[in-house]
Amino acid sequence: MRSAILILSFYLPVFSSAQNQISIDAARAKDTISKHIYGHFAEHLGRCIYGGFYVGEGNKKIPNKGGIRLDVVDALKNLKIPNLRWPGGCFADTYHWMDGVGPKEKRPTIVNTWWGGVTENNSFGTHDFLNMCELIGTEPYISGNVGSGTVKELSDWLQYVNFAGESPMSKLRRSNGRDKPWNVKYWGVGNEAWGCGGNMRAEHYADVYRTYATFMTGWSKEPVFRIASGANSSDYNWTEVLMKNLPAEMVGGLALHHYSVIDWNKKGSATDFSEDLYFTTMERALAMDSLISRHSAIMDKYDPAKRIALVVDEWGGWYDVEPGTNPGFLFQQNTMRDAMIAGTTLNIFHNHADRVRMANLAQAINVLQAVILTDEEKMILTPTYHVMEMYNVHQDALMLPVTIRSEDYVSGNRKLPAVSASASRDSKGLVHISLTNIDAQKSKTVSINTGGLVFTKVTGRILHSGKLQDHNDFTQTQKIKPLPFNEARVEGKNLILELPPFSVVVLELK
Ligand code: AHR
Repeated sequence: MRSAILILSFYLPVFSSAQNQISIDAARAKDTISKHIYGHFAEHLGRCIYGGFYVGEGNKKIPNKGGIRLDVVDALKNLKIPNLRWPGGCFADTYHWMDGVGPKEKRPTIVNTWWGGVTENNSFGTHDFLNMCELIGTEPYISGNVGSGTVKELSDWLQYVNFAGESPMSKLRRSNGRDKPWNVKYWGVGNEAWGCGGNMRAEHYADVYRTYATFMTGWSKEPVFRIASGANSSDYNWTEVLMKNLPAEMVGGLALHHYSVIDWNKKGSATDFSEDLYFTTMERALAMDSLISRHSAIMDKYDPAKRIALVVDEWGGWYDVEPGTNPGFLFQQNTMRDAMIAGTTLNIFHNHADRVRMANLAQAINVLQAVILTDEEKMILTPTYHVMEMYNVHQDALMLPVTIRSEDYVSGNRKLPAVSASASRDSKGLVHISLTNIDAQKSKTVSINTGGLVFTKVTGRILHSGKLQDHNDFTQTQKIKPLPFNEARVEGKNLILELPPFSVVVLELK
């Protein structure tokens, strides 16, 4: 018998017949929400690496260790980021790792042809990245250069990074100051092979993948997890061809990229947008659900045991750059709209935990839907950061299936389900339920049927603000931050709560 205490509400009306109903079916729980869906992405792009993660050794103004910003390290530790993808993106298929090892003063300069045409001095290379991952306590995910590299180059990179014995590359690593291998597990075999990674046809990439993947073995203590460059949004043919032609034992994951972009030719401002444009962004974000279902259905045909993970290693909102900034640097602000993208997308990932076992938000700092923005020595956390922090309680927890009946969010003649949710139970027995209401105007009363769950206390946190366009900036760093939410009340088997317009809530049932 469940015992429950009443959590007092000061203003919440009680609606036992709420239109928004969520049922948790713990008896059907079987899949774990992999912590790796909380991964991030750090490309050599704009101010993500240089100025974001890395400010140079000997920087006296910004506290750092070996050039890595310590404020950023602390913020990412708090976020519990499980993995970090590097060095790209499109940059990865132009990157020659040998340029980034050895004495910094001897490293060649290169031109970042994809992102702003800027010259960089390679002062942030393999050691810097991998040591930084150790500092943050995250697993590195390295994207190999397939588009303009060679099989030998990628194989040598693995040997350099992972080989414990005596070999030419491990010798070089040691001469560069690192004795023990880093044992990097996650390796991407190219990026967007259908586009900036080489404009390949799926059939051609499948063959190229097989060759590269063959020579990525033999250097590591444990078998590496190889991730094939995957489809662009709804390119189902790409997934079909790869699943058909790649031997399952050669693939750990198959990628998928999907950005919530209004129109590639007219992306719109990150902060100055109408409700209509917000609605379109949310349409794009919610499309993730059907994209995953359809790509997964294709994968199921060839891999019914779900051995191969779907790795959504680029996702997030993409708008015009901030006025006055380099168009090639993709620097954008981050508002409550982005919080709504994050909250709904993570719920979608959770509910597809059987197949989606890794994902990477694009990108961590100063680029696209960033969790952190920096300006010289200043650093702020974005609404997206707060959602990812609130939600990280789901990492490696048992996903509890939910069924959702939601009212519509209506805008003009368009409509979307207003409420999204997901639930999990962690190793300590705590149940977490994350909920979003994307409706820009109306709050939603939600009734959650907790089924057979046993709990005596409900607490929560909420992310909300007065306007959709609200954001944190360097003068107002705390405008948006999570606040306690103790307004869920128990009514029989149900939890009743009211979600304000465009809000994100995470409940904890103890
Ligand atoms: O994240 C920015 C870019 O978007 C990446 O470099 C590329 O993979 C994608 O097209």
